[in-house]
Amino acid sequence: MSRAVIVGSGSQIAPNRVSNAMLSRIMDTSDEWIRERSGVETRYFVDPGTGTSDLGLAAAEKALAMAGVDKRELDLVVFATMTPDHYFPGSGALLQAKLGLPPTPCFDIRQQCVGFPYGLQLADAHIRSGLARHVLLVGAEIHSGFMPWLGQQWDYLYGKSDQPPTAEEFAWNTRFRHLTVLFGDAAAAVVLRGSDDPGRGLVDSILKTDGTDYDKLYVPGAGFKHRPYTSPEQFARGEHIPVMDGRHVFKMATTRMLEVAGEILKRNGVGVGDLKLVLMHQANKRINEYCQKALGLRDDQVVSNIERYGNTTAATIPLLWDEAARNGRLAAGDLVLLIAFGAGMNWGATLLRA
Ligand code: ACO
Repeated sequence: MSRAVIVGSGSQIAPNRVSNAMLSRIMDTSDEWIRERSGVETRYFVDPGTGTSDLGLAAAEKALAMAGVDKRELDLVVFATMTPDHYFPGSGALLQAKLGLPPTPCFDIRQQCVGFPYGLQLADAHIRSGLARHVLLVGAEIHSGFMPWLGQQWDYLYGKSDQPPTAEEFAWNTRFRHLTVLFGDAAAAVVLRGSDDPGRGLVDSILKTDGTDYDKLYVPGAGFKHRPYTSPEQFARGEHIPVMDGRHVFKMATTRMLEVAGEILKRNGVGVGDLKLVLMHQANKRINEYCQKALGLRDDQVVSNIERYGNTTAATIPLLWDEAARNGRLAAGDLVLLIAFGAGMNWGATLLRA
């Protein structure tokens, strides 16, 4: 039976680089705190007007070029994002138009940081069932829309204005500092093809969701539980900005990522020494260092990009894949483990051969 093989990848980082020192211009934070607690050094933000479908388009074009697949050969597009261009329709439909595809099934999934593992299983299931031969899977996020600072404060952040935030604005920005320093904007995409080669492709996948603690990481405003679904009052209370109980999420991430990694390795009879690479979601460098140590992974088995890009949610794992592929760290047949945990809460692991 055919299974999904990644035959091409591509990524697109937002254009505006923001260092930790630059963030300390608009809120009470420091390079030292951010590096020590999270591992993030820089992140990149888009200009207003750019959507996830635009970043996704650039990533998709590079993935198609690497794969040598003509866009007209795509049978399905899966777009993983929690930050779509519009509330509806999803970014998948916009990408279909921007890529110039013939009418093709395109849908969004909302699994946050676990979007890529969920998307891989969907792509593989479509391929195994014969519904698709080529699938484009995109992970893209624009977190800059969540940022609490507004208007000319963006210019001050970028060093394009001499007018600092007022004391009130500075205090408002500081209220969200545990969250806002972590995230950046990016997209990455892979092209999957059905193949009968037993030495390549998706081997196994374990996906989990438990919504019990959803409110430890969520956006309280801008939802249809409210009438109207968004309002100036919500905005004034900052309810358009995610709520995150960082300590709880940190604990859950380490526990669940280790559990699911152990489960997938055991049921496939794979030892950690058999893995060429382990691509872990990049929410906090300390989470990943803890998991690396607990799993007994060597330094050459893990890759990291949180220093450069921060947490890019659904884009993170395909971005790691693309960098590893382009840096010659992945050869056909290499065994790779993906592990992720994120809002929902969702978590999962994927075992695949490059
Ligand atoms: N700069 C300076 N000080 C800060 C900052 C900041 N950016 N943020 C928080 N602090 C302060 C706090 O106010 C607090 O001060 P206090 O002791 O005077 O009250 C102190 O630092 C410690 O705060 P904590 O929140 O306890 O810091 P912690 O060490 O837990 O680190 C962090 C916070 C980085 C958020 C961490 O908990 C974390 O990374 N959690 C996991 C995040 C995650 O996995 N998110 C999921 C992915 S996102 C998704 O799915 C969409």
